[in-house]
Amino acid sequence: MHANSAITDNTVTIVSNECIGPDVSLIAFRCPEIAMHAKPGNFVNIKINPQNEPLLRRPFSIHNIEEDRVEIMAKSVGCGTNLLSRTPAGSTLQVLGPLGNSFTIDTPDYDTALLVSGGIGTAPMRFLEKVLLTRGKKVHHIIGGQSGRDIQKRGLTNYHIATMDGSHGYRGTAIDLLRQKYASFSGSGPIKVFSCGPNPMLKALAAFCQDHALPCEASLESIMGCGIGICYGCTVELKNIFDNETSTILLCQEGPVIEAERLLF
Ligand SMILES: Cc1cc2nc3c(=O)[nH]c(=O)nc-3n(C[C@H](O)[C@H](O)[C@H](O)COP(=O)(O)OP(=O)(O)OC[C@H]3O[C@@H](n4cnc5c(N)ncnc54)[C@H](O)[C@@H]3O)c2cc1C
Ligand code: FES
Repeated sequence: MHANSAITDNTVTIVSNECIGPDVSLIAFRCPEIAMHAKPGNFVNIKINPQNEPLLRRPFSIHNIEEDRVEIMAKSVGCGTNLLSRTPAGSTLQVLGPLGNSFTIDTPDYDTALLVSGGIGTAPMRFLEKVLLTRGKKVHHIIGGQSGRDIQKRGLTNYHIATMDGSHGYRGTAIDLLRQKYASFSGSGPIKVFSCGPNPMLKALAAFCQDHALPCEASLESIMGCGIGICYGCTVELKNIFDNETSTILLCQEGPVIEAERLLF
């Protein structure tokens, strides 16, 4: 989980902005400076409107890198993301990145990576899967959503889907499905879990991983401002691993990826 030291602020041109699901857009721009240094788990902080509203940048996980092309997957939840979804190809954005730390991939202690995501938390998983496969790891995804319309699986392989309404795949939560499938994954060597999604999912996943002595990293979200450790807008309280105390971190600096055993909800 290393922080990225090659941060640049770039004026980029959107090459495509495609609606890929209800309120979800896939936005691509060319930026060799970010593409060259990005690692799975990193994020970018985007000034969506050169005018005032919204004034602050908005953070998005890096979804995919293809040569110098960077992709993000954005769910419309408010003024910035609504505006981004309507910003056409040819428009410019100001993009700071790559920011934050990254998932810890290059360790020899696992053969199989379980990527567990929920809702828009699937956004960082495509880039993560690509890099894991280049390292010779086996990859399985567990993807959860309220209904089939919430599932974003484009570009992913070897996925298992759970929906709360049963409209796609298993009926239940991603963690219910993980419980059911776990025996079939655990036959193929040591496992490490990588995750991103809503807090109730991460909480249940952290408990599952603790019960099964599985290492687990989770990418968290918080409100952010600067993305680079200046505004103190992204404080998150976490458990210390070696004592029973808690400490407060800046998620843009020490995260967004943290060890799941540190989660407090
Ligand atoms: C490291 C990181 C990576 C992220 N990656 C993605 C991604 O890949 N795709 C994606 O769609 N979203 C991602 N998010 C969340 C995204 O940044 C917020 O949804 C966005 O900033 C909301 O901006 P807005 O102007 O549309 O909403 P606002 O109008 O500012 O707020 C609308 C609602 O969203 C809530 N909100 C605002 N910011 C956040 C936030 N950072 N986290 C959670 N809730 C928030 C507000 O409390 C409010 O309820 C990420 C957040 C972080 C911190
Ligand atoms: S977002 Fe400003 S300190 Fe983290």
